[in-house]
Amino acid sequence: MAVGILLVGGFGTRLMPLTKNTPKPMLTVAGLPVTEHQLAMAKAAGITTVVLATSYLSEVFIPYFGDGSKWGMKLLYAVEKEPLGTGGAIGNAAKLLTGDESIVVFNGDVLSSHNLKQQIQEHEENNADVTLHLTAVEDARAYGCVPTDSDGRVTAFLEKMDNPITNTINAGCYVFKSSIVNSIPKDTVVSVERQTFPELVARHGRVFGFIDDSYWLDIGTPKALLKGSVDLVSGVAKALALTPELIASHSPQRLIMKGAQVDPTARIDGGSCISHGAHVQAGALIDGCIVEAGARIGQGAAIKNSFIAAGAHVQNFAQISSSFVTNSEIIHIPQ
Ligand code: GTP
Repeated sequence: MAVGILLVGGFGTRLMPLTKNTPKPMLTVAGLPVTEHQLAMAKAAGITTVVLATSYLSEVFIPYFGDGSKWGMKLLYAVEKEPLGTGGAIGNAAKLLTGDESIVVFNGDVLSSHNLKQQIQEHEENNADVTLHLTAVEDARAYGCVPTDSDGRVTAFLEKMDNPITNTINAGCYVFKSSIVNSIPKDTVVSVERQTFPELVARHGRVFGFIDDSYWLDIGTPKALLKGSVDLVSGVAKALALTPELIASHSPQRLIMKGAQVDPTARIDGGSCISHGAHVQAGALIDGCIVEAGARIGQGAAIKNSFIAAGAHVQNFAQISSSFVTNSEIIHIPQ
């Protein structure tokens, strides 16, 4: 059975100020941290041992996830004093894994409904060194693209360009042969995207693409973070982590988690989610929003397409749109 490494140590600068005190993977979408949605996806594919590769705000993960037993998983924690980059993080996390099973690496900021079981199976059938999930995007100019040949072998890793030669991009979920992970240099900064993968292809390593165009989203930008949550609430994306015992009510328009207090005269719409311990007062209108644990929305407030962070308070009758609201600031999200 494969084991997992979840890369959760990045700074998440594009989501500041939300990521000042909360690492990006611990921000909630559809009422739960991004990491919790990813762990549910890993478990559904049969992965029950996962190392969280942490660095920035590493101390935030353990109190929430503990040893993983609450989820029927075994979770281990690797901490980098200074971020080691994606490759260095994988090498460091692998020190906690001893077997020779395939190692599945997840970027910690991706929501994906792709068929991970099949990706692992194809990897093993191909006796591949690495098998990368590739997804097709409409406009690949913002990404590095990854062409494959007719056998599914990756032929190059190309940097961003004005005229990409293919629209398949690296979707941030890799199955590695354990010996390849063990060959990544230890205790030094390494990027898998810029070093490990291109070097493997150059030496004719067995690098395969697994092309699957199911739902996929990188939640690393403000607009994408909100979209990811709405997609999970509305059912566009699979929400495997949302088990019935966590939910007070759920429809494609809204998700109210157990332990949230929502006045019956408040209107929650547009795929919004209200987390455990949040309080929404009378007459408030919440449309296309994430309201995190312990946030308080005053009466008559109208909030659209915004992220109300844990512990933030929105004044009575406030009008807020396309913003991040924390307990100390309101930042407009550039459109
Ligand atoms: P931005 O600063 O907004 O670009 O976000 P980021 O820091 O998260 O970087 P990026 O989106 O490129 O990272 C992709 C994934 O790899 C995220 O899940 C990061 O948490 C993770 N990651 C990036 N760099 C490191 C690192 O040095 N160490 C570890 N453990 N994880 C990393």
